[in-house]
Amino acid sequence: MSGATEKQYRGQRYRKEWEKEHWARGWLSPGRNEYRAYCRACDKELVVGKSELLKHAKSACHKKHFRSSMLTSPVAVTPMNKTLVEVVPVHQDGAASPAPSGKEVIIPASIGFIGAGNMAQALMNSFLAKGLVEAHLLMASAPSNRNLEKLPSGMRTTNDNNRLVKECDIIFLCVKPHLLTEMIEGLDPLERDHSPLFISVVTGFDICTLEQLLGSLIDAPRVVRTMPNTPCMVGQGCCVYTMGTNTNESDAKVVYSVLHSVGFCAEVPEYQMDAACGLAGSGPAYIYAAIEALADGGVKMGLPRHLSQHLAAHTVKGAASMVLQTGKHPGQLKDEVCSPGGTTITAMHSLEKNGFRNALMSAVEASANRSKELGNKS
Ligand SMILES: NC(=O)c1ccc[n+]([C@@H]2O[C@H](COP(=O)([O-])OP(=O)(O)OC[C@H]3O[C@@H](n4cnc5c(N)ncnc54)[C@H](OP(=O)(O)O)[C@@H]3O)[C@@H](O)[C@H]2O)c1
Repeated sequence: MSGATEKQYRGQRYRKEWEKEHWARGWLSPGRNEYRAYCRACDKELVVGKSELLKHAKSACHKKHFRSSMLTSPVAVTPMNKTLVEVVPVHQDGAASPAPSGKEVIIPASIGFIGAGNMAQALMNSFLAKGLVEAHLLMASAPSNRNLEKLPSGMRTTNDNNRLVKECDIIFLCVKPHLLTEMIEGLDPLERDHSPLFISVVTGFDICTLEQLLGSLIDAPRVVRTMPNTPCMVGQGCCVYTMGTNTNESDAKVVYSVLHSVGFCAEVPEYQMDAACGLAGSGPAYIYAAIEALADGGVKMGLPRHLSQHLAAHTVKGAASMVLQTGKHPGQLKDEVCSPGGTTITAMHSLEKNGFRNALMSAVEASANRSKELGNKS
């Protein structure tokens, strides 16, 4: 910021945010079935479909680097030599999506989870399903075996958080907010040569508090705050994240690769975290309730339960895909299904009378405010 006035600085900051939003929208553009890959072995760029990319990666000259098919979209990594290929989607205009600069994606040796409940399981299952990392490189710790017993086979588990912290390079903090401070206070200081990257999914704890708490283990802890959601479990999650003050370029690349493997993700300024919690963190619950209510409506009007639930879930999935794939405003898509004097506009009027949109906006607001409250308590 040297030499810049505060106004100029704020201008730059908002432009940066706008650019981030702009590229986030780029990810949603149609025509994403081609990938731009850079192959370090051949030292050349490829713009090909996924199957050609896999073929290239497995061809004779590369075979020694690959154990099995490890390419996934949108970012591919190889756990063998850690830096062979990076894949990013190609935009409609042919420009590569602005992943953190540089060609290399480095996936560290070992990813740990302190806490092994819903969120940790959603993340680890997604990493495995996307081939981001092999099971033996994952580790989880929790006080009881209640959840540890349910984890994918091949993973290391322990009841000792200190053992996990010593053995892992990336550590996800996945405990409930009211337990986080006590859990960190129970950890031993780290050796000077071991500085893991901490990624917190804990609602409400800001970067400053996390850095302060983890500062009791190591000087200048590298911390990332993220807000994922449970559809990560089926590779359809979305999450936002904020990099801490001690993180570096290479941490940014790792975080981008890891979090992109669970679905959509975007870096945001920290002040947007509570809002993201209200929308995407808690959002799946609103939609589950909506699916249940739609299915109930179908049953009330004579559909069998099973069929009604399927129709409801597929309707939500189809509508979401229309928004993402056409890039059209949801209001426009709504208008396109409302014919004059028809059934849908009549139903829309009923939703308006019952405060449907107001209810959803208030839900996002309530969750975001609660997230802020939890943060203030920490
Ligand atoms: N669920 C969501 O949709 C969602 C979305 C975004 C963010 N989050 C955040 O994710 C975090 C975890 O939520 P969750 O839904 O996964 O909770 P959860 O299912 O209750 O899991 C919590 C885990 O933490 C473990 N644990 C408790 N005390 C511990 C300690 N001292 N050391 C190590 N592990 C400990 C528990 O152990 P046991 O297995 O022994 O009980 C359990 O495995 C929360 O902070 C939440 O705010 C959740």
